[in-house]
Amino acid sequence: MSGNGNGLTKERVLEELKKIKYPGFSRDIVSFGVVKEVTVQNSVVVVNMSVITNDDTTGPQIEKDVRAALKAMPGVKDVKLSMNVQQANAARNIKSQGTGERAKYLENVSNKIAITSGKGGVGKSTVALNLAIAIAKQGKKVGLLDSDVYGPNLPMMAGVNAKPEVKDEKLVPFDVHHIKLMSLGFLLPEDTPLIWRGPLVAKAVEQLLRDVAWGDLDYFIIDMPPGTGDVQLSIAQLLDLSGAVIVTTPQDVALADAVKGVVMYQKVNVPVIGIIENMSNFVCPHCGRRTDIFGHGGGEKESKRLGVPFLGEIPLDVEIRIGGDTGRPIVEVNPDSPIAGVFFKLADRIIHSGVKEKTAGTPHVHV
Ligand SMILES: Nc1ncnc2c1ncn2[C@@H]1O[C@H](COP(=O)(O)OP(=O)(O)OP(=O)(O)O)[C@@H](O)[C@H]1O
Ligand SMILES: [Mg+2]
Repeated sequence: MSGNGNGLTKERVLEELKKIKYPGFSRDIVSFGVVKEVTVQNSVVVVNMSVITNDDTTGPQIEKDVRAALKAMPGVKDVKLSMNVQQANAARNIKSQGTGERAKYLENVSNKIAITSGKGGVGKSTVALNLAIAIAKQGKKVGLLDSDVYGPNLPMMAGVNAKPEVKDEKLVPFDVHHIKLMSLGFLLPEDTPLIWRGPLVAKAVEQLLRDVAWGDLDYFIIDMPPGTGDVQLSIAQLLDLSGAVIVTTPQDVALADAVKGVVMYQKVNVPVIGIIENMSNFVCPHCGRRTDIFGHGGGEKESKRLGVPFLGEIPLDVEIRIGGDTGRPIVEVNPDSPIAGVFFKLADRIIHSGVKEKTAGTPHVHV
């Protein structure tokens, strides 16, 4: 029994701590593994904590939040905190903070790239799929993980409607359009609305990394759900990511969210490879006139301001949309079209962006 006579127990303290969010994220500090030890004795609460971050404000902010929460608990006379802040090292060996182990999956894959966005519906999945195929067509072995556990849509976009085989206790990813593909969408009945709590999300994500026979890959591309939540954090903990590509539309609101995405990846010490502006303009197939439906140039301007590379623009194109809806990605079915050419060019930029150099000294972009 770790408490005292007034009902103040270690369990009650942990419950309070679970209400405190890691700064900038929706995940709490307990499930993130920040809290290492809690003891309660004679109405004095002692909490030992540890974080791995390059942000000087994170440790003090957590301490402040923890102190305030515990002081407000009935029966608490004193609060003693210790906070161990470790710098994420130059090689970006993001550690699993919960266990103190190294990021542990797909260690032999040298390029692990997250395709992400702050706002939903900007075209992440479209970009992730077409880019993955474009990179594969350049002779690389590519795996694509749909990590959108809330609404996986790569099965539809890639035109696969089947259950994966299990071999040697591992799920076999689908070999489709020259890539290996896995999604939670293959494992769940269609149209199941998924409502997950944080720890379950982390478990689902871990299974997609651990229990899938990804094999030997040159590139591992991860299609992220929108925003900066549990999936992003779990992946940053479980994989030693090489970098993140942020997809945005030219609209102000999407751009503001893109900035949040950049900042989040900075926080978990993952370099931002660059920003892609999707749905950038529309060229009328009938009259050839260009219209900037969602504005234009915002992505490039914002990348300059943030000091991250601008990778390029993808126009709004009906073939892209049809390709997505019918499971026939444009890069695969019409590789010689100008629009497929845009994806090949982006793939080329990413391949040559230096994501391969995963050693110390890889440039880290600061906002
Ligand atoms: N450049 C484009 N031109 C035309 N349609 C596009 C383009 N990019 C994406 N789309 C379409 O926009 C819709 C949303 O795209 P997509 O699902 O890739 O976005 P997302 O960011 O992954 O969304 P979510 O946040 O829901 O995961 C899809 O119907 C897709 O076919
Ligand atoms: Mg998506």
